[in-house]
Amino acid sequence: MSVLILDFGSQFTQLIARRVREHKVYCEIKPCTETPDKGEFEAIILSGGPSSVTDPDSPQFDTGWFSVGLPILGVCYGMQLMAHHLGGELSKGESREYGQSFIDLVGESPLFHGVPSSRVWMSHGDHIKSLPKGFNTIAKSVGAPIAAMANLEKKMFAVQFHPEVVHTQFGREILGNFLFRIAQCKPVWTAGNFIEETVERLKREVPNDAHAICALSGGVDSTVAATLVSKALGKRLHCIFVDNGLLRKDEGDKVEKAVSDIGLQVKRVNAQERFLSALKGITDPEEKRKIIGRVFIEVFDEETKRIPEAQYLVQGTLYPDVIESVSVRGPSATIKTHHNVGGLPPDMKLKLIEPLRELFKDEVRVIGRELEVPTQILERQPFPGPGLAIRILGEVTDERLRILKDVDAIFLEEIREAGLYRTLWQSFAVLLPIQSVGVMGDGRTYEMTAALRAVTSEDGMTADWVYLPDELLRTASNRIINEVKGVNRVVLDISSKPPATIEWE
Ligand code: XMP
Repeated sequence: MSVLILDFGSQFTQLIARRVREHKVYCEIKPCTETPDKGEFEAIILSGGPSSVTDPDSPQFDTGWFSVGLPILGVCYGMQLMAHHLGGELSKGESREYGQSFIDLVGESPLFHGVPSSRVWMSHGDHIKSLPKGFNTIAKSVGAPIAAMANLEKKMFAVQFHPEVVHTQFGREILGNFLFRIAQCKPVWTAGNFIEETVERLKREVPNDAHAICALSGGVDSTVAATLVSKALGKRLHCIFVDNGLLRKDEGDKVEKAVSDIGLQVKRVNAQERFLSALKGITDPEEKRKIIGRVFIEVFDEETKRIPEAQYLVQGTLYPDVIESVSVRGPSATIKTHHNVGGLPPDMKLKLIEPLRELFKDEVRVIGRELEVPTQILERQPFPGPGLAIRILGEVTDERLRILKDVDAIFLEEIREAGLYRTLWQSFAVLLPIQSVGVMGDGRTYEMTAALRAVTSEDGMTADWVYLPDELLRTASNRIINEVKGVNRVVLDISSKPPATIEWE
């Protein structure tokens, strides 16, 4: 049993799914063009969306969903859609509300059980002017005289604000009320259940003599995926760790040790020289990425051929990689290609096993913890596939790699020392192809520049630069210039994304 979230294109649709799952209720996001079918669902949530319900090109929707007999919660656009199709009236763009607002509750409603009049987060141009038949107003705000409505008999509820964003003070409680008081869902979606079900399913679906391979990077996703699959396949899972030499300082050894400690059967392929010689003389960022992708395919393909009994390929694809960010356009819209999926051989005749494809990153961490994957891997900051090559601007050489690894290691050490590693989305150093004049002792220097970057982010799509403590910056800069030969200047990157990107290339 699960909750269905119909996606009308809101940037918060995934957040609704996350919040529902935080209540231990499984849910799935489907495009709003989905044909009505009660299926195994126990409730429906209609997401927000950027359109106006009355626009000619507003997303398609089959009103048959209103008659499948399931409890429905409309959020923002979802509410307007309900009002529009069920006989209410909308007011277009007269009193917009963006950001913080306050709702006053009207009467009693199970949706607001235990919730007081409180702060909410709004983002709407249109609002509802008159209620559809059978509905009552259950909350109002300054900009929306009908900020929430309910038809108790039909178990239809709608809110103009976004309960899924943290700025809505009692958002969690409101969603919980819908799931448990109204839709009678059971909180049974737990890490333990997920692991048990997945292992059983894999044992059932993968033949007893079939082998699988997995490209392990040492990141959270591939490690958790491999650990989960190994519980079903044991030694029939062969992990391949391609060390491209572009990892952080000592990272190759750390990854190898950590994954072996978990009990995974891992083969490390030291392909540093192959990657570096392919990158020789290359300065264009896109070309670097393509070369790294190509060499990775070659190496991985060669290794795969050594395991001819393999019929399956395990990948750590996550839910956000699977669902379409623009599913409002319907099933025909292209699915976002995973950064790393692009890096696998196109003609590989292996069947895919993607045990995490229904999960969000934070859920993967919870599963990983349950599987006893070391914290060091679970809490690792994201690291790009092309590695340090896209953090060395200009040509990637042995010497530049050595310099960047040392600079980056010092910066990370200081970040960890300050207790900031886990709170940051990413923190790293970049080596610039710029030399500048300096003075060390009594001598003139003419050396390279390192840039430090620390950002917070929810998902890497947008990011904010972080105001690091003076003391940390001072120590990091001093240590880098004193300890790393070849660098005489350290600068700080204070650009957000957009318009900058997180990585420099
Ligand atoms: P940008 O630089 O586009 O990066 O703001 C967004 C996030 O994606 C990571 N990134 C990559 N990850 N392969 C990956 O696995 C890649 O080619 C790649 N490029 C960027 C980046 O580190 C950031 O977290």
